[in-house]
Amino acid sequence: MADKERKLKHVGFIMDGNGRWAKARQKPRTFGHKKGADAIIDVLEECFNNGVTVVSLYAFSTENWSRPKEEIDAIFDLLDNFLKKYSKKLYEKKARLVISGDLSPVSKGLRERCEKLVADTACFNEYVLNIALNYGSRNELVRAFNLLKGKGEEITEEDISKALYTADLPDIDLVVRTSGEMRLSNFFLWQCAYAEFYFTDVLWPDFNKEETKKAIEWFYGRKRRFGGIENA
Ligand code: FPP
Repeated sequence: MADKERKLKHVGFIMDGNGRWAKARQKPRTFGHKKGADAIIDVLEECFNNGVTVVSLYAFSTENWSRPKEEIDAIFDLLDNFLKKYSKKLYEKKARLVISGDLSPVSKGLRERCEKLVADTACFNEYVLNIALNYGSRNELVRAFNLLKGKGEEITEEDISKALYTADLPDIDLVVRTSGEMRLSNFFLWQCAYAEFYFTDVLWPDFNKEETKKAIEWFYGRKRRFGGIENA
């Protein structure tokens, strides 16, 4: 297998288990989200230090609107604070911020912070932090097909890839989902076509550098054949 195929470029994290982590400590769910947001900084650093160039985070799905308003507001506040804090790091690392999702229903403050950071970091291409915010993969695909509707010729795979929020990003190589759940939950279905899936019982707030390293090492232990056969 060619070395280029073996390289782990893009990791997607489904950050699950914040609520259970808080419940186990008799704390409100928002406390779990706070600890979950704190965990992200180390995970990103470990990914970027181990050759990963693109990280996607599932921060808020199109289905998460069914949660209590207080919890939704807390998640958006945490996101806003995270972006405030992490923006310095984006410039230091020459990392581009991508937001996948429809920002129209989020607060003006958060929307403008996202839009500004996306525009200001658009010139960077060493690393990418892709945050899925009010994101759902089916929704993204419907949006893409509608964007392509007027195209007279036959639609190709490339056309669809280019019409997604992740247009110029490589496919996801590895999906990490914490908390023991084994579902994709509408997370980048198209981009995960050839991804490896790493499931761990660790709850997201406990996911740290060591756990990140374990997931990366696990990936490199997998044989990826992309539908072919070994040693072909
Ligand atoms: C899933 O755990 C987690 C979420 C829906 C929100 C994730 C948000 C953060 C980690 C904080 C903000 C994000 C960023 C990028 C700074 P859950 O609440 O479903 O946990 P449970 O299954 O144990 O209830």
